[in-house]
Amino acid sequence: LIAFFQPKLLTGQHVLVTAGPTYEAMDPVRGITNLSSGKMGFAIARAAREAGAEVTLVAGPVCLPTPRGITRVDVRSASNMLEAVMDKAPVADIFVATAAVADWRPAQEAEQKIKKDGSGQAPTLSFVENPDILATLAQSPRAQSGELFCVGFAAESQDLVANAQAKRLRKGVPLLVGNIGPATFGQDDNTLLLVDEQGVRELSRDTKLALARKLIADIAHKTRATG
Ligand code: CTP
Ligand code: CA
Repeated sequence: LIAFFQPKLLTGQHVLVTAGPTYEAMDPVRGITNLSSGKMGFAIARAAREAGAEVTLVAGPVCLPTPRGITRVDVRSASNMLEAVMDKAPVADIFVATAAVADWRPAQEAEQKIKKDGSGQAPTLSFVENPDILATLAQSPRAQSGELFCVGFAAESQDLVANAQAKRLRKGVPLLVGNIGPATFGQDDNTLLLVDEQGVRELSRDTKLALARKLIADIAHKTRATG
């Protein structure tokens, strides 16, 4: 019912959202991932849809139902996620990167399950850095010209304000949303910090859906003011 009364602030806009963790395989049955639940990203996708947007949600491995009326693309690794995002980016007006993308992946994915060799020696894994999906989009010509509004997320375990401000500049995005992790992982509640050119604004503790609606209203306001 609340959704019915939401102002349709994003009618005609296409919102692209990434959510959840990524999974980086080391062999056919094992890999590296993280504890992101995807709840914040799914809430944002839902709130954007309620606001009248067309929504594409690119999701890593999560256990969440698809919000009504959106297009969901399931992916596994950071490279898969980048590919799915690049596919939709040309038609997107707003990109919200909530995914907890693995920063590194195993340098090699073994074709067969890695077996113990009986020597008692553990295997050594080496890693390579994954592509930075948000930075890639933020540096694209459409983002640089203001046609694509990019929003980053940052879960920090300390110095949230300073880290979020630094990350906003490093990623080159107009809006960076900070939350204190990993305490928030998997929870239904969150506290968000909106960091933009003007400064810092706190959205106080609330459900992820209520916060998502406030964030979407803020993004709609910003994209109207600039576009
Ligand atoms: N991000 C991304 N692709 C990556 C890493 C991060 O798109 N390979 C996005 C996340 O979705 C998030 C933002 O970048 O919106 C910030 O992610 P975060 O992990 O906080 O930043 P990093 O640049 O990876 O820095 P670090 O983890 O070292 O703090
Ligand atoms: Ca990271």
